[in-house]
Amino acid sequence: MMDTKFLNLFLKSLFLTLCFPIHVFCADTNTITSSLSITDPDFVVSSNQVFRLGFFTPENTTNRYLGIFYVVSETSVIWVANRDRPLTDSSGTVTISNDGNLVLINGRNETIWSTNATSTGTTNTTAEIQDTGNLILRENSTVIWDSFTHPTSFLVPTMRLSENVITGRRVRTSSWRSPSDPGLGNFTAGLQALNIPQIFTWHNGAPYYRSGPWNGQILIGIQDMYSPYLDGFRVVNDSGNFYFMAPPGNFLMKIDLNSSGSFVQTLWDDQRRTWDIVWVAPQTQCDVYGTCGRFGVCNPLNSPICSCLRGFEPANGDEWGRGNWSGGCVRSTQLQCDGEDADGFLTLPFMKVPDFAELYPARVEEECRIWCLRNCSCLAYSVDSNIGCMFWSEGLIDIQQFNGVGPELHIRLASSELENRIKDQKTPAANLALQSDSSAIVLKDESKNVNIEELPVFTFKTLADATNQFHDSNMLGRGGFGYVYKGKLANGRVIAVKRLSAASGQGMEEFMNEAIVISKVQHRNLVKLLGCCVEKEEKMLIYEYMPNKSLDGCLFDPTDPSQKILDWRKRFSIVEGIGRGLLYLHRDSRLKIIHRDLKPSNVLLDGDWNPKISDFGMARIFGGNQDQANTARVVGTYGYMAPEYAMEGRFSEKSDVYSFGVLMLEIGWKLWNEDNGMAFADQNIASPNVQSEIVRCIHIALLCVQEFPKDRPAVQTVLSMLSREIVDLPLPEQPIFAEKWDRSHVGSTQGTSQFGFSTNDLTITVLDGR
Ligand SMILES: *[C@@H]1O[C@H](CO)[C@@H](O)[C@H](O)[C@H]1NC(C)=O
Ligand SMILES: *[C@@H]1O[C@H](CO)[C@@H](O)[C@H](O)[C@H]1NC(C)=O
Ligand SMILES: *[C@@H]1O[C@H](CO)[C@@H](O)[C@H](O)[C@H]1NC(C)=O
Ligand SMILES: *[C@@H]1O[C@H](CO)[C@@H](O)[C@H](O)[C@H]1NC(C)=O
Ligand SMILES: *[C@@H]1O[C@H](CO)[C@@H](O)[C@H](O)[C@H]1NC(C)=O
Ligand SMILES: *[C@@H]1O[C@H](CO)[C@@H](O)[C@H](O)[C@H]1NC(C)=O
Ligand SMILES: *[C@@H]1O[C@H](CO)[C@@H](O)[C@H](O)[C@H]1NC(C)=O
Ligand SMILES: *[C@@H]1O[C@H](CO)[C@@H](O)[C@H](O)[C@H]1NC(C)=O
Ligand SMILES: *[C@@H]1O[C@H](CO)[C@@H](O)[C@H](O)[C@H]1NC(C)=O
Ligand SMILES: *[C@@H]1O[C@H](CO)[C@@H](O)[C@H](O)[C@H]1NC(C)=O
Ligand SMILES: *[C@@H]1O[C@H](CO)[C@@H](O)[C@H](O)[C@H]1NC(C)=O
Repeated sequence: MMDTKFLNLFLKSLFLTLCFPIHVFCADTNTITSSLSITDPDFVVSSNQVFRLGFFTPENTTNRYLGIFYVVSETSVIWVANRDRPLTDSSGTVTISNDGNLVLINGRNETIWSTNATSTGTTNTTAEIQDTGNLILRENSTVIWDSFTHPTSFLVPTMRLSENVITGRRVRTSSWRSPSDPGLGNFTAGLQALNIPQIFTWHNGAPYYRSGPWNGQILIGIQDMYSPYLDGFRVVNDSGNFYFMAPPGNFLMKIDLNSSGSFVQTLWDDQRRTWDIVWVAPQTQCDVYGTCGRFGVCNPLNSPICSCLRGFEPANGDEWGRGNWSGGCVRSTQLQCDGEDADGFLTLPFMKVPDFAELYPARVEEECRIWCLRNCSCLAYSVDSNIGCMFWSEGLIDIQQFNGVGPELHIRLASSELENRIKDQKTPAANLALQSDSSAIVLKDESKNVNIEELPVFTFKTLADATNQFHDSNMLGRGGFGYVYKGKLANGRVIAVKRLSAASGQGMEEFMNEAIVISKVQHRNLVKLLGCCVEKEEKMLIYEYMPNKSLDGCLFDPTDPSQKILDWRKRFSIVEGIGRGLLYLHRDSRLKIIHRDLKPSNVLLDGDWNPKISDFGMARIFGGNQDQANTARVVGTYGYMAPEYAMEGRFSEKSDVYSFGVLMLEIGWKLWNEDNGMAFADQNIASPNVQSEIVRCIHIALLCVQEFPKDRPAVQTVLSMLSREIVDLPLPEQPIFAEKWDRSHVGSTQGTSQFGFSTNDLTITVLDGR
């Protein structure tokens, strides 16, 4: 009772804070003028206090450099002025010189570094460190130089990698020489606008890593860039000036091209006060450009990782056998090229498409295929719904087999090659490294005849061995349909085995459903199915093992030690992760899937706190245009079910959005509940940024739990709202009552609470239902 009143007051105060933002710090100067210079260790700070221009010393050296950094920590450098000419003492001064440039001079009045932007004798220039982290030099009021167009190794939001195809001007980053030497290193990174824009890193000028083409939404050669909502990067063609940019974010972010050539994207964790790595490229040897040579394909799950495309063999068998794949592969049977039946295509799903794509203006896939077949120099094609018809006429290089995401690549082969291999047309998408015991089985969905293609099959014996004969000590839990065991395969891989109990009457339908649904989808935020086993009475599903438990446990089990560390930042990223998984199910996978039973116990957390949606026993696959259905059998969990589904059996993606909304409310709510009262005392929670984020999250959640499905935002929109791509949130329709919200799921024995939302004054009131 006290809690809810406190929450009420707290939320009101948050809204006040939001309406009248208070500047905690008084603004220092952000500008250097001819009459105001700074000398080591002084600095200037951007007006929102996020960036600082000042002096620093990298690790393991005594050299001093002028740089820009995030004020949050000394290790947050994002730009260096005198990267190749260090100061050897702390006598550096930054000033406006007589010629109007911003210059760095040492104690002997020698110019160490200059913006070199003016040559005339004008003196009316000023340098300002802006809130974006850009250092600009203005003459009168015109910007004549800025640090964003002279980057070092870092990218921050709104900074651009660019290539102007008309003027040839490029903006690229280049690595440091070593972590203690910001000097110009051997790696560069930039945008290449040739044909279709791609991001590259180069090592001494040779390609080292390639992002794959930009399709208008994502870079299709980055396996974990599922949707634009992941990170909001975009590539823009501004009248021939192509640029790649991360839009302004609500978090502190930087992407470094580090001295060993890796892109390392980090986000600031305000509570732990560390930079957390969120993305790295290259991730595996397969990401390194051309590892397997021409016509070779790389799969990090295979051993060895390189193989020749079907219909090709190593150009140099000895070298290839020795693991030197650079020579690549050559065609086994020459192409015929005469007549339409002479050659055909081998289809490879989930691929990183080769470099040097060209474009053909075909409108439909068939047109692309026919054109490619007719043009003898066309060696492969691929169709992306945004890019259109891509084709290749040179040796295919830098091809990778992805794990369940990515476009299809169609390789031209002589018909004789295809006839021999017709069975193998679809190569397994994944899991080649697993020890599966036979090729594949086909399960059929009762209604739609969906086949499970290439789902590895495990024998009963393999699984019994892996789980020590299904020993109790390996039991992870018990579900509605049987037990789940932890197991270890002979190759060391740890798995989770869901063993359907023979007694469960309805189990087979759910089992098949789950196998069918989940074998179709692969996403970082969905638990991964590795295979299945159907032997006599036994039915089992094999999953990747999740070392940590469900969100349920973390959120609601007061004895769980992880509760204490589930801070807001983690909660927020869990919310986003669940949203991305849901978006993938609804939109980005080839099938449209409604989960129908989204709740905390069906969200598992991996060792890095990444949420993974699991339990697809209730999920339904939708056909092309179908987006709503009725069911006679309402399944799901009371409290998380949308009213139209619970009452009338109507479900759509908006019923999943409802469940997602309830989940978000809980995740936010729990932080304020009695067990976490401590959280308030935490300075970080009390910071206006975090407060506004929590309130925003609750506001978005309330939009999701509106009574009428049409009023609820799609998951895509929810993600845009969370990431602040959509800034202004609509008010929920009134009156809304999340009355189905079962208090027992909030981990308290108190009465029901209701969220009422008044559209007039934008306050959330929490009514005590007792
Ligand atoms: C530094 O050099 C500039 C020109 O190079 C000169 O105008 C200025 O007087 C010098 N300052 C000092 C303190 O020597
Ligand atoms: C400025 O120009 C001088 C002479 O052209 C050159 O030596 C120096 O490297 C340039 N400095 C920068 C920071 O571009
Ligand atoms: C700034 O003003 C001065 C004096 O009015 C003028 O000579 C100069 O061209 C101006 N510079 C720019 C970049 O507009
Ligand atoms: C210098 O530029 C500012 C605008 O940035 C202008 O207001 C001021 O009048 C200029 N001063 C001179 C001496 O040109
Ligand atoms: C850069 O490459 C050159 C030539 O390969 C090499 O000699 C040099 O040591 C490399 N520098 C660094 C910092 O790795
Ligand atoms: C600095 O030197 C120490 C000791 O040699 C080493 O362990 C550390 O990795 C170095 N740090 C960097 C950034 O090079
Ligand atoms: C980029 O934009 C220019 C001008 O707006 C246009 O002519 C050109 O075709 C565009 N290029 C691509 C690859 O879209
Ligand atoms: C660059 O980043 C990669 C990936 O995080 C890391 O493995 C490597 O050690 C880093 N290199 C340096 C010199 O820090
Ligand atoms: C790898 O094989 C190629 C020929 O395919 C050869 O030219 C090259 O020297 C070999 N590289 C190494 C490191 O052995
Ligand atoms: C076939 O493709 C090549 C490579 O793009 C192109 O140069 C040639 O004009 C095409 N030929 C025909 C007949 O379209
Ligand atoms: C998962 O478990 C490991 C080992 O018990 C622990 O170190 C880690 O913090 C846990 N992570 C989560 C997300 O619970």
